[in-house]
Amino acid sequence: MPNAFVTGVAGFLGSHVAELLRNDGWRVQGIDNLQGGRPENVPDGVELRVTDCLERGSYVDMLSGTDVVYHCASAAYDGLSVFSPAFVYKNTVQATVEVATAAVAQGVGRFVHCSSMARYGALTSPFTEDMQPVPESPYGLAKYSSELIVEKLFTIHGGEYSIAIPHNIIGPRQRFDDPYRNVAAIMINRMLLGKQPIIYGDGSQTRCFSFIGDVIFCLERMGTSAAAVGEAINIGPDEGEETILSLAETIADILGFNIDPIFVPDRPLEVPIATCSADKARRLLGYETKTPLRQGLVNMATWIERQGPAQFVYGLDIEISRDNTPTTWIDKLI
Ligand SMILES: NC(=O)c1ccc[n+]([C@@H]2O[C@H](COP(=O)([O-])OP(=O)(O)OC[C@H]3O[C@@H](n4cnc5c(N)ncnc54)[C@H](O)[C@@H]3O)[C@@H](O)[C@H]2O)c1
Repeated sequence: MPNAFVTGVAGFLGSHVAELLRNDGWRVQGIDNLQGGRPENVPDGVELRVTDCLERGSYVDMLSGTDVVYHCASAAYDGLSVFSPAFVYKNTVQATVEVATAAVAQGVGRFVHCSSMARYGALTSPFTEDMQPVPESPYGLAKYSSELIVEKLFTIHGGEYSIAIPHNIIGPRQRFDDPYRNVAAIMINRMLLGKQPIIYGDGSQTRCFSFIGDVIFCLERMGTSAAAVGEAINIGPDEGEETILSLAETIADILGFNIDPIFVPDRPLEVPIATCSADKARRLLGYETKTPLRQGLVNMATWIERQGPAQFVYGLDIEISRDNTPTTWIDKLI
């Protein structure tokens, strides 16, 4: 039975990859500090140790005999990273160095690192993996720095690695009560609470959204396919570009909500058009978009309705509070 170790296993991607691996006959163990994740996300049969990636000594034993590490833990806060860079760096760059160090020391077979499309910054879309990353936000810089240290450690000491670059994934188990991330989840939760969606800028920011069920097997394959070794691969669709405004309108239509969005000033460093090419994922991993965005949103809204909409939790410190810090966060308007 192959062994996997998943960081961030109580989070969105981590819990889904753990579930898929378990279903495919793997023994799966993982860690999570529960900053963003929830124990109830962890699938039955998957072992959760509640600890922090930064505390290497508290989990290094779990890596012995591991075939594949899926490193999904991160402070995945792009917009917030402009205002809380220390928190994001520590829980992304330092967290990655700690996990990769433990993995190399224990001689794991492969390390799958979850990066982010934020690595591409304001390059011209669609982003392809051969472009030299030019991250804009502290989060993008942190994710790209993390990639580089993974690549460096595994190249020096031996062992396989691959870099998954997911983008804008939606689906059940995603946090919807965190005001600092996950635009679709926040909009669904707000509308279920009877509140209008809040849109930064004019809502023309363009993205592609992926449904978790369409992308998670790609993440698994990044850990098993020979074709993925040493590769950075965008994971997600390049069809169905959406603006943030049209996303809000689609959600409102699904929920039968009478929409009249609240427009607030742009956030600094928000990239206007950010989409990724899926050609490499199609070629190397057999990626295919199967779930149209509307269906993905229906699935997610159904899940959030079942959980019950929740008041937003402002659980993180704003480290830099200045004139350009969104009032939505300072004044807790979300
Ligand atoms: N969801 C997306 O659309 C998306 C897009 C691009 C990249 N990613 C990347 O994919 C990975 C997973 O994202 P997600 O959406 O599942 O986020 P998530 O917040 O749901 O999961 C991350 C998990 O990591 C845990 N965590 C954070 N810091 C930790 C630490 N220091 N020690 C232990 N656990 C820690 C959190 O508690 C959480 O459960 C992240 O690396 C993220 O940057 C996600």
